[in-house]
Amino acid sequence: MFNRDTFFVYVSGISVVLILAFAGYDDAAPGYKHYQDEFRSIVSEKFGPEKAAFVPSGVQQIWIESANKVDRCVSCHLGVTWEGLENERQPYASHPKEPLENHPIDKFGCTYCHGGQGFAAKLPDAHGWVKHWEEPLLDSTLEEEYQLAKKGGFMQMRCNTCHRYDRETEGADYINRAKALVSEKGCRACHTINGRGGSIGPDLTEIGSKTSEQYDYGRLTTFPSIFNWQVAHLQNPKSFAPDTIMPDFGFNSEDAKALTLLLMSWRKRDIPLELLPNGAFGDKPTPEELERDRIMLEGEGRFFVEKTCFVCHDVSSLGIISATKIGPDLAIAVEDVQRRFGRTLDDFLHNPSGTMSVVLSRQISLTEEEIDEAVRLLEHAYEVHKSLEEKQGKENGNVEDSSAGH
Ligand code: HEC
Ligand code: HEC
Ligand code: HEC
Ligand code: HEC
Ligand code: HEC
Repeated sequence: MFNRDTFFVYVSGISVVLILAFAGYDDAAPGYKHYQDEFRSIVSEKFGPEKAAFVPSGVQQIWIESANKVDRCVSCHLGVTWEGLENERQPYASHPKEPLENHPIDKFGCTYCHGGQGFAAKLPDAHGWVKHWEEPLLDSTLEEEYQLAKKGGFMQMRCNTCHRYDRETEGADYINRAKALVSEKGCRACHTINGRGGSIGPDLTEIGSKTSEQYDYGRLTTFPSIFNWQVAHLQNPKSFAPDTIMPDFGFNSEDAKALTLLLMSWRKRDIPLELLPNGAFGDKPTPEELERDRIMLEGEGRFFVEKTCFVCHDVSSLGIISATKIGPDLAIAVEDVQRRFGRTLDDFLHNPSGTMSVVLSRQISLTEEEIDEAVRLLEHAYEVHKSLEEKQGKENGNVEDSSAGH
């Protein structure tokens, strides 16, 4: 079994059978020769015997000079650079054009994108479906097993090991969606990613390098693999760590899978600089993101991030935005508590009722001084709120005034 597999642990019924079958099958495993003969006859039939004479024999390989490694996939995948074999079955078909335009195979080889075991020239070794190989071919079987809707979806994980710092990468929709979610939901409020962010949760910069043994699959209802763990955790963090303050963002399964692909792509990389995109050496936030991070982590409302109130509450006038908005906006708590509970904010926070009594007894513990600090800050937030409102009222008023004058 792939017990050292970085990404997936194949212990579903089907896979176990497959692997056992392979294990006793090794010597008989089909090598490249059979495929080369077959390819020659396809070419002969389609383009004539003269062309078939160009089909090479023997092990074929691409030497990736910058990494000093070889990919021998082309020993069988002979049609990759041929034109006119687009509809041929594998391993004989022409390769889709776009990916290779930006990544010529003589420079990039195959496995950086596809996974698999580059130096092997027979199956199943080449496709990496063997013991102790951690990078299986990211193929359609895998996509079916995990019900990934987009073809080539798993490969996007590999795209992003190189394109990590792109905001968007054409051809990597899942990754693009996931990057947008990380920004929208404010994962960085609690997690450091690429050196930026909070420290309430674990640093996620190299989460993709975590090995399968480091996961506890005890609470998983689907079959145990890193991929399944991440999807399930994102959809229901509490079912894994009952006391966690990581919010349930209500991700649907496609979003959770997209985020999982992104998380799994964040790993230590061993890729020569020549093969990395330009400017790929820093996570450059947009000015808006920088400002939001700054406000959340350093602004006047920092207290509500540090004490994790913002998991459930906006404090909108101090720039604190909650991804879940489970509780009311605390910018108006001073007034709202009085109205709803008939007592002062100070009294409410010292003797909370309802949800907040649970939150403050089980989840967040505040000292008396910290409660006083919260009250002081919320009084300030209320003033800022009122003055913002006033300003806005005036602006609207001015607009009306000026239009009335015309
Ligand atoms: C010994 C011959 C052989 C070698 C070597 C080989 N392949 Fe294949 N490949 C095949 C055959 C046969 C198929 C079609 C049947 C299948 O999918 O298993 C295939 C299918 C594929 C597919 C399509 C799978 C799918 O259904 O999604 C991909 C992608 C692929 N190979 C990539 C690679 C890469 C990358 C390498 C090098 C690491 C490689 N192959 C090495 C024989 C080979
Ligand atoms: C830049 C990344 C990249 C490189 C390098 C690359 N490929 Fe691909 N390959 C792709 C993408 C993207 C697709 C289309 C995926 C899809 O739609 O299923 C693809 C499709 C394929 C398919 C068809 C898979 C299918 O299910 O139809 C095969 C086979 C394949 N590649 C083999 C190779 C081989 C062999 C090499 C090396 C000579 C190689 N690729 C190099 C990205 C790459
Ligand atoms: C081994 C690293 C590597 C992998 C894997 C990789 N790329 Fe690239 N990609 C590059 C480099 C290098 C360039 C050239 C751009 C440059 O020099 O800035 C590039 C260029 C591109 C471009 C052209 C636009 C641009 O950003 O410059 C697109 C689009 C792209 N890659 C998409 C993909 C997709 C989709 C995949 C996965 C199927 C993928 N890449 C996999 C390294 C990689
Ligand atoms: C309010 C704080 C908070 C926010 C916001 C948050 N997390 Fe978490 N996260 C945590 C905490 C605390 C843990 C550790 C306990 C647990 O596993 O739930 C955690 C754990 C994780 C883990 C497991 C890490 C490991 O090594 O076990 C992943 C992955 C993760 N979070 C991803 C995300 C993503 C993606 C987002 C944004 C969509 C996000 N988190 C938003 C607090 C947060
Ligand atoms: C797990 C979610 C959660 C967390 C974390 C949380 N709250 Fe609440 N809070 C709520 C909910 C839900 C309500 C509304 C309760 C109700 O209506 O009875 C609420 C109500 C309040 C109210 C009353 C607001 C009003 O307008 O009526 C105050 C004040 C408050 N919380 C302060 C805080 C502070 C300060 C923190 C951090 C120390 C915090 N909360 C953390 C969920 C949370």
